[in-house]
Amino acid sequence: NLTPPMVHRIIEECRQEISIRRPTMGNVGETYASMLSYASHEPNAALTRAVREMAPADVIGELTVSGLKGRGGAGFPTGVKWNLAAKAESDLKYIICNADEGEPGTFKDRVILGKYADMVFEGMTLAGYAVGATEGILYLRYEYTHLRPHLEAVLETRRQARLLGENILDKDGFSFDIRIHMGAGAYVCGEETALIESLEGRRGEPRNRPPYPVEKGLHGRPTIVNNVETLATASCIVARGAKWFTGIGTERSKGFKLFSVSGDCARPGVYELPWGMTVQQLLELVDGVGAKAVQVGGYTGELVPASQFDRVMGYEDLGIGGSIIVYGQGRDMLEVAENYLEFFVEESCGQCTGCRIGNQKLLDGVRLLQKGTCSNRYLNDLIGLSHSIKSTSKCGLGQASPNVFIAINAHFQEEIMARPILAA
Ligand code: NAI
Ligand code: SF4
Repeated sequence: NLTPPMVHRIIEECRQEISIRRPTMGNVGETYASMLSYASHEPNAALTRAVREMAPADVIGELTVSGLKGRGGAGFPTGVKWNLAAKAESDLKYIICNADEGEPGTFKDRVILGKYADMVFEGMTLAGYAVGATEGILYLRYEYTHLRPHLEAVLETRRQARLLGENILDKDGFSFDIRIHMGAGAYVCGEETALIESLEGRRGEPRNRPPYPVEKGLHGRPTIVNNVETLATASCIVARGAKWFTGIGTERSKGFKLFSVSGDCARPGVYELPWGMTVQQLLELVDGVGAKAVQVGGYTGELVPASQFDRVMGYEDLGIGGSIIVYGQGRDMLEVAENYLEFFVEESCGQCTGCRIGNQKLLDGVRLLQKGTCSNRYLNDLIGLSHSIKSTSKCGLGQASPNVFIAINAHFQEEIMARPILAA
């Protein structure tokens, strides 16, 4: 049970400034001019280049060639998304920055917004220019309310500098402004259509897709929803050109990525790294060698056991949203599963029966296993239930919620069997 002073301490710790670490990587060397160096040396170079030298289609072309994929987790190609929105016929279009960073273990967007907000707003403005949108909305996670005054101040400075508003940088007819909308503390509102529902004043419940937001989004108009990091990275790419970006990373995973690292390691934090490292290399970097397992991609990601630490972080293998949670040898994996399922039960919006009831049943089952009062037959039923939840859930929350239970069954059977299992 958390006492008020404990809660206060946790909140204070959560508000502490985190710096992004950028280790020198042998395989990229000097060419590794990162997002961070863009922030300190070339502010607004992308927007200036775009409005002075590039047609909107050229901006989209640059992103398409760069191979940038959405950094929210799903990895949809950003150039394709912007192109679809550009082609959609409408007199009104929107750009939404999804800053509802709620995935447990993920805190990279918070750092970007706290230290490099200009790059995010620049990326939103670029998207507005590229697709012909006039309004941008930053949907900010409720728990990041403390960032709002800073973000409002950055927006105001940009307006004064004519980087927002009418005829941006003297470009006739290019008008775009950004407002901030606060979330209300629901994890599911990070799902883009639930976010849009919430923006429209309704309960944050995911919609069926298609239609995708690029076709029919906010108020039924074409809408781009991009993650904070995606927009910041788009600014770097348009400023420096796609070739710079494609020179970093792997064949199918271009560029670099921010990773939030937490759990049983000596150097947790936010790391800016090129794609292509193995899990083992990352563990060496963060001083987590000898771990039992690593959750890659947050609670909706994949639990990687030690026997698979040679797997590569990149879209060819582990394409992830940016959260790494290290589990040391002392962790009880059933406790881990219980923790994940408690979270999903709490955060389910309740629309789908499988997600609403199935996750509660799965949690009950994990607790039976912990107590040693689960039967073999019921354990098999729980595995079947996990697959049913995945296939009957409308959004990513329900589709991914049983993953950890399935993985623990596959990789940590001995921990389950260490407790009594009833024969019947
Ligand atoms: P998705 O793959 O369905 O869609 C990804 C993006 O591509 C969306 O913007 C969608 O509109 C667009 N898209 C996909 N197919 C399209 C098409 N045919 N035409 C036009 N646009 C298309 O993934 P989803 O459900 O939006 O997101 C799931 C991901 O979110 C998971 O990978 C998970 O890792 C991540 N996630 C991230 C969290 C965070 O805090 N950053 C929290 C929870 C989940
Ligand atoms: Fe809501 Fe869960 Fe269905 Fe997603 S899967 S729409 S969170 S009930």
